[in-house]
Amino acid sequence: MLRVATVGDLPFIQDLAGAVFSRFGDYRRILTRFFYTDGVTTFIWEEENSPAGLGMVALDWGLNSTYGVADLMAIALTPDRQGQGSGGRLLAALLEWSRAQGADEMQLTVAEPNHIARRFFARHGFAPAGRDEGRYPAGQRALRMVRTL
Ligand SMILES: CC(C)(COP(=O)(O)OP(=O)(O)OC[C@H]1O[C@@H](n2cnc3c(N)ncnc32)[C@H](O)[C@@H]1OP(=O)(O)O)[C@@H](O)C(=O)NCCC(=O)NCCS
Repeated sequence: MLRVATVGDLPFIQDLAGAVFSRFGDYRRILTRFFYTDGVTTFIWEEENSPAGLGMVALDWGLNSTYGVADLMAIALTPDRQGQGSGGRLLAALLEWSRAQGADEMQLTVAEPNHIARRFFARHGFAPAGRDEGRYPAGQRALRMVRTL
């Protein structure tokens, strides 16, 4: 089940970011900053009534755009929940929420060496967008992927 995160979820968010994203940079701090950024909604993914993952979506299209692009800022499962299909259910819930907000496209960046995540996103309809998006704080190349909703 997807629910909107509250300040009380920050310790879980920070610990999960530290566990799964620290090879890309100081993501305990970066996800904390995203949490407090206007336009970013942070979600907790619950399984059996306990936190199993997180998702962060930014809806930052301008008032005069003709279409809405939702930015998937982060998606992660706790290590014990990975590799069992939960990510697909979490992603489907984030796509559905973004569609309901009026988005018709979702974009993200993924680190070049994160092959598990790249395959995961490709399996779920994302295609490389072909633009160089720079680098993660720890130096990995960031690749952009997009899909329509
Ligand atoms: C990316 C992620 C959300 C995908 O969700 P998921 O539920 O694990 O996805 P899947 O069940 O489809 O499994 C993904 C892969 O992990 C493999 N896997 C199998 N057992 C595993 C285990 N015990 N632990 C980790 N991965 C495992 C799966 O076989 C699959 O590999 P494949 O691509 O070769 O088929 C999740 O793995 C995750 O949170 N990763 C860490 C954070 C991350 O990298 N996020 C994306 C940043 S942009």
